Amino acid sequence: MVDELIWQSDYDVGIPDIDDQHRMFLRLVGKIRAEKGSGADNEKMSLLLSELLKYAEYHFCSEENLMYGCNYPERAEHSRIHEEIIAELRNRVFAVKFDLDDYDSLEAFLFNWIVNHILKDDKAFAAYFRNV
Ligand SMILES: [Fe+2]
Repeated sequence: MVDELIWQSDYDVGIPDIDDQHRMFLRLVGKIRAEKGSGADNEKMSLLLSELLKYAEYHFCSEENLMYGCNYPERAEHSRIHEEIIAELRNRVFAVKFDLDDYDSLEAFLFNWIVNHILKDDKAFAAYFRNV
């Protein structure tokens, strides 16, 4: 089975700053998995997830600035998806802190984001960006 935490060439969208940020995102998820594996408590997990949440907010702003700069026609829809992801992540930070969520479901959500959002939405944007 493919370990989604290891960078796959498939994840590259072809915009160096964005690819670097996606790599950082995977590193943070890797750190969260490792801490969970070594028995981190809920508070520690919640703090790590807060770091991930803030990084995701920063990363989405970077993408949205690029979209604005090139008049990307799907910008509103793409930004709406970002908002949904942030809202879900925020709920999960809370849930993990109070032990209302299980880690497997959290990790599934994060990988679903990588697979569906990076591979589909971010690649669609990058294709447009590289051609303007
Ligand atoms: Fe995006």
